[in-house]
Amino acid sequence: MNKVFLIIAFTLLSSCQNFNSNSADESRFSESPIPASGSNDPNDPAYQSYVKLVKSYNIIKTRCFQCHSQWQNLNSNQKWIDSGLVFKNNPESSSLINRLKNFDPPGDMPSGANSAIPNDDYLTLVDWIESMP
Ligand code: HEC
Repeated sequence: MNKVFLIIAFTLLSSCQNFNSNSADESRFSESPIPASGSNDPNDPAYQSYVKLVKSYNIIKTRCFQCHSQWQNLNSNQKWIDSGLVFKNNPESSSLINRLKNFDPPGDMPSGANSAIPNDDYLTLVDWIESMP
């Protein structure tokens, strides 16, 4: 009886461990941006820039990933720049911004939706690109 219990307990424990490490890997490598530095000091410019990247990434995740799933891998400023969608410090030239319905003149993204993304989200994206280090 004890043996059977131990085997069951062990199986449950090890499958939990697998599940946890898989989901941690997944969120680190495919869903969340990578920290620019080890620092989490709110006065550190590198940390402030990291926070802007995370906020912007999460907005794009919510508003755009359902169609643009290939953007999930763009988890650093450099990757966004290399993708050609973002021009550093120049939101007006960045198609990520100028294709939005919020832009003037209005673009057509998010496609299919009746309205533009919330203005707060738009301003966060603009500020992120404008202030990229
Ligand atoms: C309902 C689906 C859908 C959603 C949601 C959506 N898009 Fe798109 N988007 C498309 C399609 C389809 C294309 C390709 C055709 C085109 O360029 O018009 C596209 C193209 C683009 C392009 C040009 C891509 C390139 O590689 O040059 C940009 C930039 C863009 N979208 C921005 C956005 C942004 C930013 C969001 C989120 C705020 C968004 N889209 C949300 C469907 C969508």
